[in-house]
Amino acid sequence: MKRAGTVVRGTVLVDGELVDGPVVWEDDTISSIGGTAGGERGLVIDAQGCLVLPGLVDLHGDAFERCLMPRPGVRLDASLAVQENTGHLVASGITTAFVSVTDSFEPGLRSRETLREIAMQLRSQRDASAIDQRLHVRHEVCHTADHGELLDWIADGTLHLLSINDHAPGSTPDAHRIRPSAVMLGRCGLSEADADRMLLDAADRRAHGLEQVAELVRCAHHSGTPVGSHDPATEADLERDRALAMDFAEFPMSLALAERYRAAAIDVVLGAPNVVRGGSHLGGLRAAAAVEQNAVDVLCSDYHYPSMVQAPFLLPCPLPEAWGLVAGAAARVARLDDRGVLAAGLRADLVVVEPRTGDVPARVRAVVSGGRIATWTN
Ligand SMILES: [Fe+2]
Repeated sequence: MKRAGTVVRGTVLVDGELVDGPVVWEDDTISSIGGTAGGERGLVIDAQGCLVLPGLVDLHGDAFERCLMPRPGVRLDASLAVQENTGHLVASGITTAFVSVTDSFEPGLRSRETLREIAMQLRSQRDASAIDQRLHVRHEVCHTADHGELLDWIADGTLHLLSINDHAPGSTPDAHRIRPSAVMLGRCGLSEADADRMLLDAADRRAHGLEQVAELVRCAHHSGTPVGSHDPATEADLERDRALAMDFAEFPMSLALAERYRAAAIDVVLGAPNVVRGGSHLGGLRAAAAVEQNAVDVLCSDYHYPSMVQAPFLLPCPLPEAWGLVAGAAARVARLDDRGVLAAGLRADLVVVEPRTGDVPARVRAVVSGGRIATWTN
């Protein structure tokens, strides 16, 4: 046996209920939950006063960009960025992270070149990583170069999750997508005139880009890779996504549209920071209201990892149900049937959390990923 461990004296989330009892794992698999004391194996974590919950599964997390570029225009090496980012993920209780890298026509931070560097680092640091990290490619419709490379990545398993983004002019009437923003200028290092030209050139490629997207989505379906759309805003977007048989929709812009997506059996993903902050930073729907209306399937970290562990404690529903949004449902959408809930025979991915009390946020005390202790503080 390579490793074994036991969490004792915690309140454990099993089968949608909070129960007492130890959780025991051997190697990377949970061997038992509950039962009498005295059956401890290996390393023993005392979780008194804490909840023992399934590890978080994050479908969309792009906060790693701040590890790669801590200040606008200031780039660090991808190897260091991936290593630093792993620390942030672990501290946030995330045991399965879909590192969400934008594949854009922009130079710099969101370019294909940077995406290649991140993909390579995720692969080379995989064995050393304390948690399971996968690649979510956020492909921009109007980025048409090197299309074959993406098809190859889907086929060879480099890419684990695909979303189709369109932030070029003409995708929506939103003014912020028509002119280059200050944030964009900072991250890609272009003058305003050059960025303007880049955006207009990109928009000219949309028709070709949409043909490529159809092929990418077909390829994703063929290989069993989950694929979804990003920021859908209109009924026309829903019709397009139905025709493409999308698996999920990230951040639909209104409650009514989120409900329509769910009715069409397309899973709705919203951001946990939206719950923590009390609303969308882009003027979209309120995630907590969407949960109340049963219009959301999954909450992801979006741009802020620590929000994932906090959001379930702030939602107007029982914790077991709320935790399902950040673990079980996310694992289902990702087609990872070996995790997302705690049960004998499943992957030993769990997080020991001191629950939120009053204004004091919940605190991650220990994280176990694949049976390995990723972090543990008393
Ligand atoms: Fe967006």
